[in-house]
Amino acid sequence: MSRKKIVAGNWKMNMTIDESNDLINKLKEVSENNVEIKIAPSFTNLYCAISLLENSGIEVIAQNVHSEKRGAYTGEISAEMLKSIGVNTVIIGHSERRKHFNETDTILSEKVKAAIENSLNIIFCIGEEFSERESGNHFEIIKNQLTTALMDLNNAEIKNVVIAYEPVWAIGTGMTANTNQIQEMHEFIRKLINKKFDNEISDRIRILYGGSVKPNNAKEIFSLNDVDGGLIGGASLNFADFHNIISAANG
Ligand code: PGA
Repeated sequence: MSRKKIVAGNWKMNMTIDESNDLINKLKEVSENNVEIKIAPSFTNLYCAISLLENSGIEVIAQNVHSEKRGAYTGEISAEMLKSIGVNTVIIGHSERRKHFNETDTILSEKVKAAIENSLNIIFCIGEEFSERESGNHFEIIKNQLTTALMDLNNAEIKNVVIAYEPVWAIGTGMTANTNQIQEMHEFIRKLINKKFDNEISDRIRILYGGSVKPNNAKEIFSLNDVDGGLIGGASLNFADFHNIISAANG
């Protein structure tokens, strides 16, 4: 089964509007047809990014969404608001949200439901801490994270989800997981999806790797059987690096 690769840039809390526009104007010239390219700017840059990238083939996605429809949640953004400016995909469950903003598996499953109800596609992030891997619990952790958030979805709903496996110890550290660790975990995730859903869904679902993907390791990582692209943090802020990573996914 051939799955189209995705390269998604997670800009995190970086980029003023001028910096964002500058990078987007360079990205607009990129034309790698075999890759789905996505960028996740901060909320303040989303609307402008969407206008600049209209008809470019690059999708602008959000880094977060709140689970409630509207109301007294100062500082939060709803699914409906995102949809209203043309956002169709949101990242949910990033380890930085789990860690710094105490987003538990239960909170994340509420966010998943809100996104699905509003027809938003989801990039759902999962990943173990270093201590959990050292103690041999990494498969269990991943299974729990997946089960709580995604296993209540039906066959139609899960088709709107992309999974991103991001070992927490590899994010922003320069310490990439090795290819055996990556392939082994991606295969495990695909098997879990297969058990719960069906062959067609587990064959089609895209599983991205994230955690210190750089131009010098992207090709090797993307060539693994069960890796369908990457969620890129630091390297997505630099045009040349991000372009190289996109090219690596283009084949
Ligand atoms: P990194 O971040 O590429 O800087 O390690 C990945 C991520 O947080 O999605």
